Formats: sequence, C-alpha cells, structure tokens
Amino acid sequence: MNDRLVAAGSVDDDAQYDAGLRPRSLAEYIGQDRVRDNLEVSIAAARGRKEALDHVLLYGPPGLGKTTLAYVVGNELGVAVRATAGPVIERAGDLAAMLTNLQQHEVLFIDEIHRLAPAIEEILYPAMEDYELDIVIGQGPSARSVKVPLQKFTLIGATTRAGLLTAPLRARFGIVHRLDFYTEADIEVIVRRSARILAVPIDDEAAVEVSRRSRGTPRIANRLLRRVRDFAQVRADGRITGGVARDALKLLEVDDHGFDEVDRKLLRTIIDKFSGGPVGVNSIAAAINEEKDAIEDIYEPFLIQAGFLDRTPRGRVATARAYEYFGLTAPGRDSGLW
Ligand code: ADE
Repeated sequence: MNDRLVAAGSVDDDAQYDAGLRPRSLAEYIGQDRVRDNLEVSIAAARGRKEALDHVLLYGPPGLGKTTLAYVVGNELGVAVRATAGPVIERAGDLAAMLTNLQQHEVLFIDEIHRLAPAIEEILYPAMEDYELDIVIGQGPSARSVKVPLQKFTLIGATTRAGLLTAPLRARFGIVHRLDFYTEADIEVIVRRSARILAVPIDDEAAVEVSRRSRGTPRIANRLLRRVRDFAQVRADGRITGGVARDALKLLEVDDHGFDEVDRKLLRTIIDKFSGGPVGVNSIAAAINEEKDAIEDIYEPFLIQAGFLDRTPRGRVATARAYEYFGLTAPGRDSGLW
C-alpha cells in the first residue's frame, strides 16, 4: 500500500493495534446498523437450527470493517475463522487444503475474493453449494472426477467491488451486504471507544475534530487517533484537547475534509484539465498517474459520498462544492458546460 495517512487500505502498523481496537461482538460493533441487525437475525437463526450460516458476501470501500465483521460473525457463531485472500491462493491445492481442514460450521474468510484465479474460483462452486470438493484425477481420456465431502461451513467473502465478481460466484452467496461509509456521529463513538481502550483522555471537541477528518472510515479514524495521541504525549501533557488535535492534524497535513494530495489532484484535474467534466475515469487515471482501480475503489467512493464528485453516464463531474473547496466559482448551469 502507499503511505497516505488517510489511506483506507491497511498500512503495516495498523494490524497490531487494530487487534485491540477491533470489536469482537456485534454488541460492540458500532454503525452499519442495517447490516448488523440483519446479520444478528441470520446468525441467531442458524444457531437455533444448529446449521452452518449461509455464505456471506460483504462489499464496500476499504477500511469499513469487512474483515472485522467476518471475525465478529465467527465469534457470534462460536466457531473459528480461517482467513486467506484471493491473490494469496496460487494453486488449487492450497484452497482444497483449507476447505478440507475446516471443522463443522467454521468460517472461511476470503478477502479480495474478486481476485481469485478462475480455476480456483471453480473449486468454490461445488464447495459452497453442496459442501463437496470435485477433484479431477489423471489427465486426458483416463481422467476422472472424485468427490470429497466437506464439513458444512460458511464462506465469508469480502470485496471492494461486487461488480467484479463473476455471476456464478455471486449467485452462491445467500447473504449479501454492502458496507457504507460511517456517519460522523458513529465515527465519533468509535474514536471515543478507541481512546478509552488506548487509555488516552480525549475531550468532545477533539473527538469531533478527529472524526470529521476520517472520511467515514474507522481504520482512518483509529490511525489518526494514534498519531494525535503521539502528538499529545510529546508536545502537550498527554491529553487530547480540541487545540491539541487541531495542531496535530495540521502538522500531519490532514485537511478539514480528510482530503490528501491525491484527492485534491483528482478534483483539480477534472476542474482544470477537463473543464469540470464529464470525463471518463481512464482519462483521469492517465492525467493524475494513478491506477484506474485505485480511483474507482478508493478515491471516488468517498469524494462522491462527500458531495465533491458526481458519477454520470457520460463520466465524472466536479460538483459546485468541489469548486468552492478550491475557492473557485462553479460554471453556471446555463454556461453550456452542465
Ligand atoms: N473499530 C473499527 N471499526 C469499528 C466498529 N465498527 N465498531 C467499533 N469499533 C470499531
């Protein structure tokens, strides 16, 4: 990943800290109310029937808690979670080994499931549908298929882009939930909870300051909180007050909206080079030298939900809000540009 402080992707040092900050039960899980309520029902029903929970697909921008939620589900089901990721599974045998090792009702979590190789993905179809492995032995005319029964298990798949999943794979998930950006109020509750766990005093104003700049993303909120905590410890008396938070965030160059260089460059390019749009994502990617996927998965979703970017059939358009952000006047609707 890169070194953006407000990047939603996990950065190495997140992992160890996250362990302590991540909620372990649905009761501790803040926000995503609709997803949480639905999962609560599904889990209670599966437990009541003593069955494996139906396969679950979680999708949405990075950093919103898909992995966290997978572990929470495992915990609520009272079973172990075995975790892997699409790009990590190189050979069919790797996945077959994981599947055959699963105990009854356990959870197999596959992150970035849209990046499974097609040949490997096909192993999942009978495994998900019939709890069976279809193994082909031999080659050519003498090849035959052997079925190996599996324990009934739950696959939890996570992806930033449900649209990239093949139709047969997607169809095999009985439970599909999209995670959305958190409200600022929910992020604030998460910040206070994390501060409590980290044993650092934080006042109301500071909790608001950190939350506002976290792009509706708990992973970013927790990362900013730790950096602000460092600042409070070294440059103040250890307590995070509003003033301390503002000074720390200023030093970290995180702006009022949680924008960073790439966000600004993206918006500025649409405004300056493409007259505010509409412009296709490929042209934007080329102009700002970022990957198209990164733009679609990471930058755009937040800019769109924050109201700075519109996605139209003809391409991306910078909104009046984006112009205002740079102190510019948006072209009028009668200018012919809109
Ligand atoms: N930490 C990260 N995500 C969280 C969430 N959704 N609820 C509580 N704490 C969190």
